[in-house]
Amino acid sequence: MDEAIARYPSDHRRSAAMPLLHLWQEHFGFVSDEAVVWIAEKLCLPPINILELVTFYPMFRQEPTGKTHIRVCRTLSCAMAGGFELMENLCTTLGIQRPPAGDGMHNPIRISADGDYSVEFVECLASCGTAPVCMIGEQLYENADVNSIADLLRKQTSNIKHQTSPHPLEHRLIFKNIGRPDWTTDIDCYLRDGGYEQLKQALTLSRADIVNKVKNSGLRGRGGAGFSCGLKWSFIKPDEKRPVYLICNADESEPGTFKDRYIIHEDPHQLLEGILISSYALNARTAYIYIRGEFPEGAKILERAIEEARTHNFLGKNILGSGFDAEVYIHRGAGAYICGEETGLIESLEGKRGYPRIKPPYFPAVLGLYMCPTIVNNVETLCHIRHIIAMGGSEYARLGRPNNTGTRILCVSGDVQRPGYFEIEVGAVTMGQLTYEMAGGLRPGRKLKAVIPGGSSAKVLRADERFKLKQKQSDGSTIEREMSIDEIPMDFDSLTAAGSMAGSGGVIVLDDSRDMVWVLNNINEFYAHESCGQCTPCREGSLWMQKITDRMLRGGGVVEDPKTLKTIGDNIAGRTICAFGEACAWPTQSFVEKFPEEFAARAKKPVPPPLPPEYTPKELIEEQEIPTVPMAHDPGWEKAGAAGTI
Ligand SMILES: Cc1cc2nc3c(=O)[nH]c(=O)nc-3n(C[C@H](O)[C@H](O)[C@H](O)COP(=O)(O)O)c2cc1C
Ligand code: SF4
Ligand code: FES
Repeated sequence: MDEAIARYPSDHRRSAAMPLLHLWQEHFGFVSDEAVVWIAEKLCLPPINILELVTFYPMFRQEPTGKTHIRVCRTLSCAMAGGFELMENLCTTLGIQRPPAGDGMHNPIRISADGDYSVEFVECLASCGTAPVCMIGEQLYENADVNSIADLLRKQTSNIKHQTSPHPLEHRLIFKNIGRPDWTTDIDCYLRDGGYEQLKQALTLSRADIVNKVKNSGLRGRGGAGFSCGLKWSFIKPDEKRPVYLICNADESEPGTFKDRYIIHEDPHQLLEGILISSYALNARTAYIYIRGEFPEGAKILERAIEEARTHNFLGKNILGSGFDAEVYIHRGAGAYICGEETGLIESLEGKRGYPRIKPPYFPAVLGLYMCPTIVNNVETLCHIRHIIAMGGSEYARLGRPNNTGTRILCVSGDVQRPGYFEIEVGAVTMGQLTYEMAGGLRPGRKLKAVIPGGSSAKVLRADERFKLKQKQSDGSTIEREMSIDEIPMDFDSLTAAGSMAGSGGVIVLDDSRDMVWVLNNINEFYAHESCGQCTPCREGSLWMQKITDRMLRGGGVVEDPKTLKTIGDNIAGRTICAFGEACAWPTQSFVEKFPEEFAARAKKPVPPPLPPEYTPKELIEEQEIPTVPMAHDPGWEKAGAAGTI
């Protein structure tokens, strides 16, 4: 416990609250009232500051679980691949009453009568390409066979699968070593492959040189927003007097995204080298890797990598005689998606609930961790830094397309025959090539219905839409081209122009067997569960949208539903503290707009309605229970907002 506390500045002991809660829960199985008081005393805090964490973070429990605790993913790609059947069959085998579908379905933990097992629905475990997945204890089980529960429970080791050979359309830089039979996570293996050479080289350069290289590379963040990495770094003043922090965002929780997990599990030193070069460039003497709580093995792999790097003096005091000191620490999250948002993450790292901060003034580069300048970058972004040093910024910028440079990892899940990860030169592959050539196409006899191209918050694209995209020509001029979904290049600008976004690189493919109300309901359930609750439009609106889509599925739809859904979405987006507001509104806005016929049909109350498999006839509802009157919409508020008076 003392070692965990020592990872944070002495005047910020509160940061150790989550590590201590994890340690307590690992040892005793749950967080008792006694634990709350004990940890609070240890950190000189009032007990409420600990209790508020236990109630906020889904992974902390106030009651014991069964001896073996099983977490089943219920989010979209797993639900499409049989996640609900997996839970159903587990419950039947273990004699547990399954958690009900709909409202509050994933919170309760159900325990078998003998106390040997317990089950819980959880949100996306960042392994959507091998859906359905579950965690038995701390182990992840991928491609779970829903019909062989006994086998699943007998298994002693997890069955993580890797795509050994890259597809010919891939250009692997970050994933160069993933799946290589002779590749291990040991530092010796990394060193044999030229590892830490770029750190050595970077330490001979000036900080400004490195920042310039990153600027010239055109690297855009791979965490979701696609913001220029070099520009972000340049916000840190070279003569900054306050401590500067670097945070590696390894929260990877956007449904459909599963790349950072593989980097951490397979090539931890590549990430560490990227972090150390970046720390040097930013003069950040402390870096934290905020890793999601559901990656316990990943956290152990990184801890080991840090110790190995320390023995070679790649981190610690006076790194390789350069005079630069840097420490890297692991900080585990505890199951809250909102901690992927950079300011929510910072609050969480400070030992508080993951409540995002308002920007301005709390831009991390100005007022970040402990109110000091802080750079938050995604795992994949930080890995690119090493390659930019190796290649030089301009050479790196030749990869991909103008303004969309380098390579990026796309994660394909859903209704394709070969789901998985593919590292491409940004924009060098079209959506059609990705879906049909790389991911093996749709199942026999199926047609493409829609694609969610950048994680579940990205707006859905309908397969039969035509898109008008402006494209730069070699002579510098731009022409507008109309194209089909298959022709859209997989890059930031093209996907934005197509009305969606490249986001976190999680591509979810939907075929013509999918009911779009069901798909949206699953997404809505995720966001309703994950809203941090600070802003009224987001907290109330996300739940309201979910209740409506859920009711439509249960046969309680009314004709106003599609309009109500749209109005709620319109009243969330742009009216919240953080971009979660848009993330939860965009799916509803786009699904209702793009598939009006399906929403209208569900709103007509067929009797009995075609129920999805996870609902039982008992869950049919006939009465209207949710208000359907659109929210009062006063255009005066909008005008006042635009004028900056509210
Ligand atoms: C609701 C929400 C969730 C997010 N989740 C993640 C995440 O899991 N991982 C991540 O790297 N970025 C996530 N982001 C983006 C981060 O706020 C931040 O932009 C990113 O970590 C910056 O790194 P980059 O510039 O390297 O992309 C999220 C943003 C929002 C609004
Ligand atoms: S938009 Fe939602 S998640 Fe973001 S701060 Fe507001 S309530 Fe929290
Ligand atoms: S791991 Fe289940 S949806 Fe992502």
